[in-house]
Amino acid sequence: MSHIRGRFHKAADTKVAAYTASLPFDRRLYRHDIAGSIAHARMLAKQGIITAREAEVLTAALASVREEIEHGAFEFKSEQEDIHMAIEARLLEKVGEVGGKLHTARSRNDQVALDLRLFTKEAIDDAVILMRKFQESLLDVAEANKDVVLPGYTHLQPAQPVLLAHHLLAYFEMLQRDIDRFDDCLRRTDVLPLGSGALAGVAYNIDRDFVAKELGFSQVSRNSMDAVADRDFVLDYEAAASVCMMHLSRLAEEIILWSSAEFGYIELDDAYATGSSIMPQKKNPDVAELARGKTGRVYGSLLALLTTMKGLPLAYNRDLQEDKEGFFDVVDTLNSTLEVFTGMVATMRIRAENMRRGVERGYLLATDLADYLVGKGANFRTAHEAVAKLVSYAADNGKALSQISSAELKKYSALFDKDVAAITVESSLASRDVAGGTAPARVAEALAAARRMLEECR
Ligand code: ARG
Repeated sequence: MSHIRGRFHKAADTKVAAYTASLPFDRRLYRHDIAGSIAHARMLAKQGIITAREAEVLTAALASVREEIEHGAFEFKSEQEDIHMAIEARLLEKVGEVGGKLHTARSRNDQVALDLRLFTKEAIDDAVILMRKFQESLLDVAEANKDVVLPGYTHLQPAQPVLLAHHLLAYFEMLQRDIDRFDDCLRRTDVLPLGSGALAGVAYNIDRDFVAKELGFSQVSRNSMDAVADRDFVLDYEAAASVCMMHLSRLAEEIILWSSAEFGYIELDDAYATGSSIMPQKKNPDVAELARGKTGRVYGSLLALLTTMKGLPLAYNRDLQEDKEGFFDVVDTLNSTLEVFTGMVATMRIRAENMRRGVERGYLLATDLADYLVGKGANFRTAHEAVAKLVSYAADNGKALSQISSAELKKYSALFDKDVAAITVESSLASRDVAGGTAPARVAEALAAARRMLEECR
């Protein structure tokens, strides 16, 4: 049997083989593995460790293995432990003896670290592209509804009027920080580990800078033991993905609330909602609920890998193989969540009239009334107290603030005058004219700046 090799006299027990195998999931790294092997073979020839002819045979055969995998012609055999062995075994079948030269000056330990870094660099690029698309979707909705006002909340109690565009741009900012975090993660992932060998470096005259250049790495690792034992870049990705999912989950929560009958601020497009099998009146925000739910799964993978890593002595340990399934799941979960959110936000119907009603119902101008009294010479605490009493009176009598006569107002503060009528939702918004505030002029600037930034990133 082909897998009885070297000092082993017995094949692994089949349950042990299945327990230790990573091929069922690390086959996803085939492209990265082959790209790494091709660069390695070229370098070996350039350094005279193998001949140019041998390198040609190896690289051509590796390319044809890639074709086989891509066309479904490659047989993934369960007796192969991982993707590295599976590809090498096929290479030996194809080219015989010379196939055995590929693994010169290399170990699976630096090989798997390389494959995973190549994969992570791509995953970061994909995530950033999807985050930009999602930002664009948020911005489109914000621009198309730039005059829409809704209650801003604190403690989920109506607080002050804000523009919907301002609210949506808050998520744009969160995504901007997420992109920053992924950029930072890319910087640390962009380091070539190949050449570290099993742990101590290799005893051949290799050219690591050449391999780095071939594979598009901007740096070469500085310590071989660290390079084969390090999975910080996976943790960095998972941590950045966790924060991004947390942001998406917060938005999910708002979408769930806003689409409820009680709020009625948005209506999800039919393509992004589902019905109930028993209650015909229902339209459920399942996409948002699932995103909120999947966030826990992403955190779980981060915690799992942190826990796996914490007890590992240097250098490579097989525990590290446990990095992959959770990581792949995080990548897929983040990307699919960003994709469906982009469509869900782009297609949701904004029910501006209900948002406006929410603003008018909730005594949202109370702060503005207190500020008015301050303008007339009251100190803020006294003004706050007078308006609190006024609101309580209005609420007890089922009146809006605008329905209270000036004679009644004067009972709460002698400073109330006719010009109090100038306090409206619009004046309230316009008065928040500070950098980062919800004044329409400021929000228009913020929208334009966000649009410019997206254009520049194209
Ligand atoms: N399948 C292994 C992993 O994912 C590849 C490296 C194996 N190295 C070893 N010495 N067994 O970590």
